[in-house]
Amino acid sequence: MNITKRPFGQTPDGAAIDLYTLTSGNGVTINITNYGGIITSLLTPDKDGLPGEIVLGFDQLQDYLSSAYIAKCPYFGALIGRYGNRIARAQFTLEGNTYTLPINNGPNHLHGGIRGFDKVVWQAQEVMDKMTVGVRLTYLSKDGEEGYPGNLTATVTYLLSRDNELTIAYEAVTDKATIINLTNHSYFNLSNGAMPDVLDHELTIPADRYVAVDQTLIPTGELPETKGTAMDFTTRHPIGEGINQVPGGYDHTFVLNRSGDGLTVAAQVYEPISERVMEVLTTEPGIQFYSGNFLDGTLRGHGGWVYSKHYGFCLETQHFPDSPNQPGFPSTTLLPGQTYRSTTVYRFSTR
Ligand code: BGC
Repeated sequence: MNITKRPFGQTPDGAAIDLYTLTSGNGVTINITNYGGIITSLLTPDKDGLPGEIVLGFDQLQDYLSSAYIAKCPYFGALIGRYGNRIARAQFTLEGNTYTLPINNGPNHLHGGIRGFDKVVWQAQEVMDKMTVGVRLTYLSKDGEEGYPGNLTATVTYLLSRDNELTIAYEAVTDKATIINLTNHSYFNLSNGAMPDVLDHELTIPADRYVAVDQTLIPTGELPETKGTAMDFTTRHPIGEGINQVPGGYDHTFVLNRSGDGLTVAAQVYEPISERVMEVLTTEPGIQFYSGNFLDGTLRGHGGWVYSKHYGFCLETQHFPDSPNQPGFPSTTLLPGQTYRSTTVYRFSTR
């Protein structure tokens, strides 16, 4: 196991950005930058033990800063905060105060706003012990930043283990009542460029219910059953099998079947050519399965690959969208004196 650090460039306002490379010693290599906490590259072994790229991303910081990228705003590999996914009409009320957030997605607020956690510079610290190697990122989001209340200190630790598990541990504290829903926005295509879309990837999500949404992707409050619909991934099948029955493609939070609040299996993905397997475990109540519906071929990444529609999928572990306005959903409120904690594990293997 090893960790190295190298300069990755500068932001327009002159902040020096680094790229950290974590190696498991068993074929997994991860590149993470302290700009947005972005996972820029993730190599895992295929069935023959050959490492290949399984995430969408770029080799240069400039590509994450370009106006073409910012205009599309796909959030490749980035940390998302303060609130993953949408808040209806960019407003919520907490302890009698109404807060207004930037509108950046139709009539709604998405992924923390204009300058969310995906676009800020995190303080980074290397961590290493016998079994893991990693990087701990810390960011202080000031009271009022992007409209959210409270000085919020967020810490996100990426840890890679010898046996090819990536753990993302999120923590946060606040000095005022606030809301929080952190996640990582990696897009995966487990084929290392062999497949121009992920429709043949086979997916399992142990969820008997999902969060129904309206046309602007805001929850209606209903949690319909997946059974008998194209939302049923309780048994493994290709993503493409039912995608045409879902207007716009998959972009839904699945309500995980769970007992207790520990780590539970949230998804498993199998890619038939490389025979790569990725398993996702989380402490969160939900997982957003997004099938890369808004990728449109205007961005090119690793290997010159063109990121067209459905080139990659995201599996974002999280609380449900718009929870601050949905009293029936698990709460996303964080109070002073409490510590927000969330853990997600990605296990990489082959069949
Ligand atoms: C959301 C999508 C959005 C995408 C990129 C996903 O988490 O669910 O609706 O288009 O992020 O912004």
